[in-house]
Amino acid sequence: MSKLRVAIVGCGYWGQNLIRNFSELADVEVTAVCDFNLNALARTKRRYPAVELKQDFQQVVSDSRIHAVVIATPVSTHYPFASQALRAGKHVLVEKPMATSTKQVLELMELADKYNRTLMVDHTFLYTGAVRRMRSIIGAGEIGDLLYFDSVRISLGLVQSDINVIWDLAPHDFSIMDCLCPEDPVAVSAVGAKHLGCAFENIAYVTAHFASSMIAHFHLNWLAPVKVRKTLVGGTRKMIVYDDMETVEKVRLYDKGITVNHDSESRERILASYRNGDVLAPNLDTTEALRLMAREFIDSIVQKRLPICDGYAGYRVVRLLEAAQQSMELNGQPIELANPVGSRRIEEPALTAVVA
Ligand SMILES: NC(=O)c1ccc[n+]([C@@H]2O[C@H](COP(=O)([O-])OP(=O)(O)OC[C@H]3O[C@@H](n4cnc5c(N)ncnc54)[C@H](O)[C@@H]3O)[C@@H](O)[C@H]2O)c1
Repeated sequence: MSKLRVAIVGCGYWGQNLIRNFSELADVEVTAVCDFNLNALARTKRRYPAVELKQDFQQVVSDSRIHAVVIATPVSTHYPFASQALRAGKHVLVEKPMATSTKQVLELMELADKYNRTLMVDHTFLYTGAVRRMRSIIGAGEIGDLLYFDSVRISLGLVQSDINVIWDLAPHDFSIMDCLCPEDPVAVSAVGAKHLGCAFENIAYVTAHFASSMIAHFHLNWLAPVKVRKTLVGGTRKMIVYDDMETVEKVRLYDKGITVNHDSESRERILASYRNGDVLAPNLDTTEALRLMAREFIDSIVQKRLPICDGYAGYRVVRLLEAAQQSMELNGQPIELANPVGSRRIEEPALTAVVA
C-alpha cells in the first residue's frame, strides 16, 4: 500500500515531537516540513535528511503530492493555515487550540465537510493512558456522581507572543474535563493578571459552573517556581487524583468520603462520618500519547471516519476559552454558555479502542 504523504508546518518545540511520531508510522512518509525559520529547518534536516524543506506555507498547499498537513505554528496562524490547506484538498491536523474563535472552528468544519476531508485537533491528553483510564473509571460509575473537577497547571512556562496563559494551557484541562465529565457547563468565569511586562495574562483562575452542584476550577500560571500538573475529580463515592508529574502511579483512586447527617435533636449540629478506605493506583498504558494521536489522524483518513478529536471536539474547547476570555475582560463576570451546537460527545469505547 502506498504511504500517506504528510507535511508538518512549524518545526519548533512541539513540531519536533510531531515529526518524530509521524516519521515512525510505517504507513506514513513525512514528505516535507515547513518553517519560516531557517535554523529550525536546518535542525530538522540534520535529523531527517530525506525530508524536503519549505520556507513558505504556499509551497505546502500547492504541492499536489501532499495528502495531509499538520499545523504546529503559533495559535494565531491555525485558522488561516488550516482553511487554506482544506481548500487545497488536504486533510488537516491542527494543534490545540483549534482556532482563536468558535466562528473560525465552525468555518473549518464547514470546509472539511465541503471538501470531504478529515479535520482533527491535537488534544494530546485524551490519548494518555491516565485520561483514558479515568474515563473508563468514571464511565463505569465507580466514583459516583461528579461533584468537582479541580486542576492546577503551573510552571515557569514559556510566555507566548500571541496568546495568554488561558489559551496556552487551558485547552489541555478543558479537553480533559470535556472528556471526563458527562455534564456541559452552563457558564464560565475567569480572572487573570499580567506581570513583569507580559503583553498577555500570565496567571488566571477559571471557574466552570454547571446546572447541577458540580463545579470546575482551573488554576493556570506561567510564573510559578515549581511545575505542578495535578487534577482532582471528586465524586459522591470515590475521588481521583491525577498527578502528571508522577512517573508511576499517575492516577490514584481514593475510596474516601464524608457522609453528612443532620442531628434530629439539634438542627445546627451536623454529624459527619469519614470513610477512609483503600487507595488504588491502576495500571496505565504507557504508549506515548502523541503516537496514538498521530495514528488516530492517519486511521481516520484511511478509514474515512471522524476522528475522536474532530472539529466538534475543537469547538467544545474553544467555546470555553472564548467565554473565559470574555469573562476576564469583564473582571470575572460569569458568561453564560449556550448549548453547544450538535450533541455528539466523545464516546468511551472509541477512546479505549485507540490502543487496540
Ligand atoms: N499538544 C500539546 O501538548 C502541545 C504542546 C506544546 C505546544 N502545542 C501547540 O503547538 C503549536 C506550536 O507551539 P510550540 O511550542 O512548538 O511553538 P514554537 O515557537 O516552539 O514553534 C513554532 C514554530 O512555528 C514557526 N512559525 C511561526 N510562524 C510561522 C509561519 N507563518 N510559517 C511557518 N512557520 C512559522 C516558528 O518559526 C517556530 O519554529 C502551538 O499551537 C501550541 O499550542 C501543543
